[in-house]
Amino acid sequence: MKPIFTRRDFLRTTAAVGVGSTLLPFSGYGKSATTSSRYTKGLVVASANGLRATQKAMEIIQTGADALDGVIAGVNILEDDPDDMTIGLGGLPNADGVVELDASVMHGPTHRAGAVGALQNIKNPSIVARYVMERTDHVLLVAEGALKFAKMHGFKEENLLTEKARKEWVKWKESLSNQDDYLPPHSIEDKDVGGDSRNVMHTYGTINCLGIDLHGGISGVTTTSGMAYKVPGRVGDSPIIGAGLFVDNEVGAAGSTGRGEANLLNCSSVMVVEYMRQGKSPTEACLMACQRIVDHNKERRLQDERGRPNFDVKFYALNKNGEYGSGSIWSSGAKFAVHDGRTNEIHDAPSLYKAGE
Ligand code: GLY
Repeated sequence: MKPIFTRRDFLRTTAAVGVGSTLLPFSGYGKSATTSSRYTKGLVVASANGLRATQKAMEIIQTGADALDGVIAGVNILEDDPDDMTIGLGGLPNADGVVELDASVMHGPTHRAGAVGALQNIKNPSIVARYVMERTDHVLLVAEGALKFAKMHGFKEENLLTEKARKEWVKWKESLSNQDDYLPPHSIEDKDVGGDSRNVMHTYGTINCLGIDLHGGISGVTTTSGMAYKVPGRVGDSPIIGAGLFVDNEVGAAGSTGRGEANLLNCSSVMVVEYMRQGKSPTEACLMACQRIVDHNKERRLQDERGRPNFDVKFYALNKNGEYGSGSIWSSGAKFAVHDGRTNEIHDAPSLYKAGE
């Protein structure tokens, strides 16, 4: 099938338009390519699961607070929610039944960042990530070291595996066979490595939340329990600055949800910001990063029968002019949350491919 837009569309469009211009192939997608300087009222953009987060973040930003305070408080709502099985408390565990969380924060005005990977027993990895940024000389702490650091700062350990998540994990264990992430030796031509339905049960729930405060400061956060039933110790893109999150206060911010391995292989979030620096709109930049993943996805086991990725990745972006956008590889669930200082709404996002075509 034909992608919804082609590489030629890309070249034609991106050569013709700059930040703030009306987009030819991507117009008609709700308000996803809005123009004007909106940060006099603040702006918050998040993945589609983030409508409560965008509301909370905007309430904080409108008090005059730093965008980082807003976006972290926003995602804390989901980290604290035991019914959300993709983030924080209640997140689906790794293959051993242990919840391991990844998160990063990035603060545009000071160009600083902090992150934690494979953190166990602490439900708010986004806050620990902020401590890494503010109370160490480092950017990323992982596993036992991250836990020790969190405890040093008074975070309380708790069992994050809810009964609901434990039952889902047991279900997965009992139907394991070809559904784990260990692979036998294989070449990029091999299709059914480890079984032909390996990806069916994978869940990659994550929240990314980006904000501009009343002073024009841009910040972002990404937090997740990562790929469900992952190999213990697996770290995804969310805590990797440049992969699952990137902020440049002079340009804008970008973050991602979906298959983290694809972002790790492409440094996708920094790519989105760099496309915006070159003058692409947030929507264009997101779709161009999706296209780069498609172009680099060479393993047959990660392709459908037409060579398209058999996984999804979504991007969210805003620029310093108050434009925002999102784009995904696949259309299923291609939506995102935006609070523009007046309304807090879910918007449609464009995608490279439509499911079922
Ligand atoms: N994007 C979330 C993850 O792959 O862990």
